[in-house]
Amino acid sequence: MNKFGGIWTFEKIKILEKYAKAYLEIMKDRPYWKLIYFDGFAGSGDIEIDGVLDEKIIHGAAKKIVSIQEPRLFDIYYFVELNKKKAESLTKSLEQVRKGGVYVVSEDCNKKLNDLAAFLKSKGKTHKALAFVDPCGMEVNWSSIECLKDLPVDLWILVPTGLGPNRMLTRTGKISDSWFSKLESFFGINRKLIISNFYTFNETIDLFGAREVQVSKNVKAVEKIKQLYTNKIKEVFKFVSDPYELENSTHCIMYHFFLASNNKTAVSIANDIIKKAKNDKYGTDFN
Ligand SMILES: C[S@@+](CC[C@H](N)C(=O)[O-])C[C@H]1O[C@@H](n2cnc3c(N)ncnc32)[C@H](O)[C@@H]1O
Repeated sequence: MNKFGGIWTFEKIKILEKYAKAYLEIMKDRPYWKLIYFDGFAGSGDIEIDGVLDEKIIHGAAKKIVSIQEPRLFDIYYFVELNKKKAESLTKSLEQVRKGGVYVVSEDCNKKLNDLAAFLKSKGKTHKALAFVDPCGMEVNWSSIECLKDLPVDLWILVPTGLGPNRMLTRTGKISDSWFSKLESFFGINRKLIISNFYTFNETIDLFGAREVQVSKNVKAVEKIKQLYTNKIKEVFKFVSDPYELENSTHCIMYHFFLASNNKTAVSIANDIIKKAKNDKYGTDFN
């Protein structure tokens, strides 16, 4: 079983489930489109979470989506989970819910996002995909998102704005080469641009003419990471929803969660769901 998260895990899955139901409602009148559900970080089936919920073990997103019966099904359910044991456990757990059309593979999501893009390209306009990309950290390379450009994909993505990238962008600006490489592959921009986005340099000269450069990290780095990533996503998708902020118990933002799509209606539906979730952050009405 996956052991992680808190209330935000529950909120995120609720948002996704609501959107998937709305998506299938629209698609029920469009049977000519084959629908793929793609989950790039599928987990093991159930999740043990900390926090304020009575339930400590909840069904993961995979089980929730596969359990949706009405108004129509996806034609293909494709789950990617790098960890072999978790993938096996997920396979067993999903078999109890649905027999046909469900695939679980134990591979890297980055590779499988590229495969998804190639598959959709090869199918012309016959297939559409709802994708859920739910990493713990910075596992998703920017190039794996970029490959979805101009494809009929609605992508829900969890961006770890308050975690890995914020920590790697150190306060002093001293960043190792390996961290810079990680930041570059995550944001899809080069080192120079990363520096100019997050740091300011002030040169001071003391009484005796000695020069000193003071480096300051942007005080709103998490917000800046969100902005930067959203702007990059807008290079790939025409529309991006408002983000839903996932916070830890001390109200620090850990992730931003949002939908990217080439369909305006899709994003307006996502915005409605997110607005409702924000209004009821710790309530029970958001069902
Ligand atoms: C946040 S959990 C996903 C939870 C899941 N969405 C659910 O609702 O239960 C992230 C999962 O991704 C897996 N993982 C980590 N790196 C991966 C990668 N590069 N490709 C695919 N899966 C990966 C981890 O083993 C972990 O189970």
